[in-house]
Amino acid sequence: MMEQPVEELLAAVEARAKQCVACPLAQTRTNVVFGEGNPRSPLVIVGEGPGEQEDATGRPFVGRAGALLDKALREAGMLRRHVYICNIVKCRACVVENGRARNRPPTQDEIQACYPWLDQQLSLIKPLVIVCLGAPAASTLIHKNFKIMQERGLWFSNRYAPAVIAALHPAYILRQAGEAYERAYRSLVDDLTAARERARELRRLQEQMQPLQPEGDDQLRLF
Ligand code: URA
Ligand code: SF4
Repeated sequence: MMEQPVEELLAAVEARAKQCVACPLAQTRTNVVFGEGNPRSPLVIVGEGPGEQEDATGRPFVGRAGALLDKALREAGMLRRHVYICNIVKCRACVVENGRARNRPPTQDEIQACYPWLDQQLSLIKPLVIVCLGAPAASTLIHKNFKIMQERGLWFSNRYAPAVIAALHPAYILRQAGEAYERAYRSLVDDLTAARERARELRRLQEQMQPLQPEGDDQLRLF
């Protein structure tokens, strides 16, 4: 029997996630932001959770932080279609202040409630490299009490990928100014570049053992 393609398996999980009411964020969301990109990519980027633009469109990293991520990806030699992008929490977390919704980090309970979706996603994609953007993603996927300033740029592994790295979150970088901004942005580009190089190395090893299938993705010749 032919194995079902990863795209179809992922679409089935996404269809179920769209109905999810497992945590209170279901009540205030406009869209579930499941994730998008190339599920055959060796490189998956995991952010914190949707913001306003993401909630409105249903797509990850399409606001200001997303534009900065795109720029950093390009500097690291990649485009969005080369990678898969998702978040640890699929619905927007926000607080209403003076009648305006402001993003907040997801709570531990929300992260736990949402974890089964991320778990299924990463288990189907089987990336070689995961890039965690920001502390919440790193504490969830690398180790609890992750110190983003000390531990970003270091290599770890987890049950989903042999190589896992954390980088500064683009939204954090946008809050810096002057030299601090430059330094933070540079570190993101460096970490994405390291991730791309690691993905390429691991892919070479994988291909030596198991040549890329004829229907193999031309886009992924990058890695
Ligand atoms: N920030 C995130 O962490 N994820 C998004 O999808 C957008 C902004
Ligand atoms: Fe479900 Fe996750 Fe949305 Fe909560 S954040 S409702 S767990 S999809």
